[in-house]
Amino acid sequence: MLFQGITAGVGLLLIIPLLQLVGIGLSPTTDSGVTGTISHVFSAVGIPLTLPSILVTYVLLVTLISGSKYWLSVLSIRQQQGYICSLRQKLYNALLHSHWQFIVNNRMSDFTHSLSGQVQSIGHAANLLLNMISQLILAGVFISLSLLLSWQMSLLALICALILAAVLIPLNRVILRSGEKQLTGFKAIFQILTEQLASLKMIKSYASEKHHARQLATANHTLEQQNINLAKANALTRFIYLTGAATAFAVLFYFSLEWLSVSLPTLILLLLLFSRLLPQVSGIHSNWQQLLHQLPAFIDVSRMLSNCLLAKESGDPNCEPPQVQNKISLHEVTFRYPGQKKPIINNLSADIYHNQTIALTGPSGAGKSTLADLLAGLLKPDSGKIFCDKTELDDNNRLAWRNHIAYVTQEVYLFHDSIRANMDWVADDVTDESIWTVLQLAAADDFVSALPEGLDTIIGDQGVRLSGGERQRLALARALLSRPALLILDEATSALDHENEQKIQRALKQLHGKLTIIIIAHRDTTIQHVDATIKLGHDAEPA
Ligand SMILES: Nc1ncnc2c1ncn2[C@@H]1O[C@H](COP(=O)(O)OP(=O)(O)OP(=O)(O)O)[C@@H](O)[C@H]1O
Ligand SMILES: [Mg+2]
Repeated sequence: MLFQGITAGVGLLLIIPLLQLVGIGLSPTTDSGVTGTISHVFSAVGIPLTLPSILVTYVLLVTLISGSKYWLSVLSIRQQQGYICSLRQKLYNALLHSHWQFIVNNRMSDFTHSLSGQVQSIGHAANLLLNMISQLILAGVFISLSLLLSWQMSLLALICALILAAVLIPLNRVILRSGEKQLTGFKAIFQILTEQLASLKMIKSYASEKHHARQLATANHTLEQQNINLAKANALTRFIYLTGAATAFAVLFYFSLEWLSVSLPTLILLLLLFSRLLPQVSGIHSNWQQLLHQLPAFIDVSRMLSNCLLAKESGDPNCEPPQVQNKISLHEVTFRYPGQKKPIINNLSADIYHNQTIALTGPSGAGKSTLADLLAGLLKPDSGKIFCDKTELDDNNRLAWRNHIAYVTQEVYLFHDSIRANMDWVADDVTDESIWTVLQLAAADDFVSALPEGLDTIIGDQGVRLSGGERQRLALARALLSRPALLILDEATSALDHENEQKIQRALKQLHGKLTIIIIAHRDTTIQHVDATIKLGHDAEPA
């Protein structure tokens, strides 16, 4: 950048001998030995100081500048894209590795917004910063040259520039605030869109399109107004800038001729310098304003990243997972969600013996899924302990423990991809054959083989192209594919008809004694063939 600035400055200085060659003589003070130095350099390399040689040198210098600009822009775009990519990856990794309680306490739409648009605009701001540095260097070179030619006039120009900057300060504040408001506006729109697009079936079935469209319209309109205000502030800045520059030009012209008695050629050269300087200064200011506008997004993403890092799950995923040969024991386990008055799991002690099938029952809201989350190591008890044999489940081994677990949750999570792609990520050695085996166990082989493209069938967002029961059976098959030591089924068959539920009961009976299974269910039909029951409600009963 410095090289670019210097070459641009030298290119401009070539005008002095050029002016002399065309017969416009400069005063000795203006020249300040510039012509002497240039002719010295020219004679040192053996080039006569003629019109063609100066023009060719000028063209060469400009080519050099353009070439270095090209190189710089490629370099800066690489830097920018690298920065965007690493920031997005860092934020996403930090989110994925933060603990479950933190994740449920945050709005996922905020993360979607940050990971998509916000990270992109922060990358753009990083590029602006690079541009600003290059403009500052170029402006520095032009200012040094103008100081060399007439320090009095340069001082006058500086005073004009400072006055202009002072006038623009309040507008900078407006732009900073508008950045904050724009961020809030975008977050609101992202939240509405994320929630509504995932609930289109409900919206359409309630025929409530108008109501929901209105919700978006309000947020949309607020953002629209915000963007208009920002554009107005930008336009006003340009207006003040242009008017101020014209006034400064008039003042400079008047004072240099009337008071400073600057000769006309010097004045022409200085004005030429200022005319080159002006776009740099204006660029610096406009980049500064854009940076101010992006500042809230940058602060927001940094805060999000540091919050995720603070909530990082401790423990080594590669540490030896706790082994269970005898039993998993809950010892006076108490858990309360933040903000709740009473703990949802209160002083619970129970034993879950190895390879037994346990039912977890209790009314809705009793804390069955919460207990399953605790056993799966997604949540940690406020007090009390969970043991795998004699090893306590702690911050260090909780992550590794999850490698041994398959958890079929109440909500079925499927991706918009093929059946195979929805299953083969759970283990390293998955083959079509092993997929068909677990599909059979989960009573899902019939419907998958009837699909037009079998395992390659794309099942839609969250498996929307499948029935509720089919989704549940796929989730169950996926859980079995990972060959878990502990299988937790939270209402995993609630959407199944009697026939398919019976099939799964038969599969669970087959698995009985081969792995530890915890079944959460309301229906008695689901909790057949169990070895023990843990009841949640007012009092927990040990198994
Ligand atoms: N993330 C959360 N933050 C705060 N409270 C929560 C959270 N998740 C659940 N709860 C509360 O904890 C209680 C127990 O919830 P849980 O999901 O464990 O019940 P459950 O026994 O599985 O019920 P159901 O049979 O309806 O699935 C509920 O009252 C619920 O409101
Ligand atoms: Mg539940």
